[in-house]
Amino acid sequence: MQKSNQEKWILYSTCDEDSYSELRALDITSNDRVLAVTGSGCRTLSLLACNPKSLISVDFSPGQNYLLELKLAAIRALSYDMLLKFFGVEDCSNRWEIFSSFEDKISPQAFAYFSANRWAIDKGILFTGRHELFYVRFVAPLMRVLYGKQLKQIARAANLEEQREIFNKHISGFLWNLMIRVGFSPLSIQIILNDPKYLVEMNVNVGDYLIERLHHTFNNHLVRDNNWTSFMFYGKYVEYQGKRCLPHFLLEENYHAIRQATTKFEIVTTNLIEYMKKMPEHSIDKYSLSDVTSCIDTPTFTSLINEVVRTGANQGKLCYRNFLNKQLIPSDLEDVLQRDQELSDSLYHDDLAFAYSFEIAQINKIENQVADTRTVAGIS
Ligand SMILES: C[S@@+](CC[C@H](N)C(=O)[O-])C[C@H]1O[C@@H](n2cnc3c(N)ncnc32)[C@H](O)[C@@H]1O
Repeated sequence: MQKSNQEKWILYSTCDEDSYSELRALDITSNDRVLAVTGSGCRTLSLLACNPKSLISVDFSPGQNYLLELKLAAIRALSYDMLLKFFGVEDCSNRWEIFSSFEDKISPQAFAYFSANRWAIDKGILFTGRHELFYVRFVAPLMRVLYGKQLKQIARAANLEEQREIFNKHISGFLWNLMIRVGFSPLSIQIILNDPKYLVEMNVNVGDYLIERLHHTFNNHLVRDNNWTSFMFYGKYVEYQGKRCLPHFLLEENYHAIRQATTKFEIVTTNLIEYMKKMPEHSIDKYSLSDVTSCIDTPTFTSLINEVVRTGANQGKLCYRNFLNKQLIPSDLEDVLQRDQELSDSLYHDDLAFAYSFEIAQINKIENQVADTRTVAGIS
């Protein structure tokens, strides 16, 4: 019997988004009330490291929220070295024992979910999402076979010049382009992710887009310093001169910041838009909405944006990413959601998870209300 989608194993187990971009966009302070989409939980944890006043993390997939519970419990309970072992970054022989000690630290549902998937705990949870397994089991081994020598050179490249030379001369070309076009065709993505909730709409040519973005990242970001391309191409977080490139939330200073955060933190399992409809007006300062546009159609996106306008506080900030479904901030809302073109462009260039473009906006309610009042009063 086929399992329902709700019961499926998690799609995301580690971050394929670059939290540095989002933190630049949102500029979180201790007064902020933040609303985030959970996904792998890593972005939420990076936001928690900034110690906002409150943080609500929403996902309609229970497994993704269980994962966030587990990650937070592990961060709070384990030493930094042990955390890296438990998560699978470093070798460890007793992950199951460690997990068993979390029974009173996570919800009974989360404990039951991971207990039923012991293989994932034993393997190291960060490497086990259906999305991550595609890279660990398929992409990284294929890269080793086709470009093993070049990948070794790239992992040790002294600088960007050296990496560019290796990529442009020895990787980029007909075979590479063919591989991207076949491996990331809409059909392959649907088969790999096997999730009807994902990539509901696409409005770019996937092959051309990813070839250009990969060319961009190899020419602008050192792979050995980039946790996401390291994970994609090597199936692990590579080490260079004794330092592992890790996602933002896993850096030692952020591990300590998360442990010290005094944020009022809530994890909610429900549909984001339905949840927002029940929230009071002006109740959120910062929105971290991931690439939720990959999972929603255009009418749902319109409802989401309307809810941001309603629930957002004046001077608040909105950040979301677009992957293959480029949903822009609607032009009729440009007064109330003032898009930061310069920062959006800059993040598109700098973002380590090269595949996303950004929509960053400031919520500007007062000016909008003043403008409305002037219109009603007939003042031009
Ligand atoms: C598109 S995924 C991106 C995950 C991601 N790249 C990461 O690193 O975590 C974002 C998450 O949003 C959730 N999601 C999508 N649409 C949603 C909705 N309408 N309500 C609640 N959660 C939603 C999915 O279940 C998924 O876990």
